[in-house]
Amino acid sequence: MTDQNDPKTKSIHFMINDQPVEAQEGWTVLETARQYGIHIPTLCYHESVEPSGGCRLCVVEIREGKWSKVVISCMYPVQEGINIYTDSDRVTNVRRWVLEMLLAECPASPELKTLAAKYGVTGTRFPIKNPEEQCMLCGLCVRVCREIVGVAAITTIGRGVHKIVGAPYDKPSEACVACGSCVTVCPTGAMRARLDRVRGSGHPTPHSSQQV
Ligand code: SF4
Ligand code: FES
Repeated sequence: MTDQNDPKTKSIHFMINDQPVEAQEGWTVLETARQYGIHIPTLCYHESVEPSGGCRLCVVEIREGKWSKVVISCMYPVQEGINIYTDSDRVTNVRRWVLEMLLAECPASPELKTLAAKYGVTGTRFPIKNPEEQCMLCGLCVRVCREIVGVAAITTIGRGVHKIVGAPYDKPSEACVACGSCVTVCPTGAMRARLDRVRGSGHPTPHSSQQV
């Protein structure tokens, strides 16, 4: 987010859900919505790391006359005069479709099932590759470990359908400081079960109240 006190920062005016809002040049639609207390659901977003657009749950609709398109709000830069809708029928339909896809990717995640149920999504029409999978490969844990903790103890390993998140070469990581930040930010609960494999034995259990 840009510095609001910088006199060189330009203000951008637009509408969210028919409400006029003001943002600074360089903000995203999601950042602006949060400033105004407008809820947009997210999974792979954390305000302290670069967005990746991995989960697509944060979709919103931009309308101009009869024309409209759906964009990812955590990566979409604000623009003067645009009209954003965060809970339109089209947005809800896309979100439900996204949740179905995510349920197929990580069907064993209790967190994801609870979120999907709030949108009336209790199953998926997409093929489930691994009924035990909890990770949606959003990479948030990797970005937090690298960009906030600064140790890069976890990464994505393998390719295609064999891709997983873990320590490099899937061996216990000497870089891991067992801070538990990856567990705290993981939106699906997958990192809870993976941390022991990442850090190996001999590390203390991270304190459950640690926050990033
Ligand atoms: S372990 Fe969690 S945070 Fe990391 S990639 Fe998987 S779902 Fe995302
Ligand atoms: S929160 Fe925007 S794509 Fe995941």
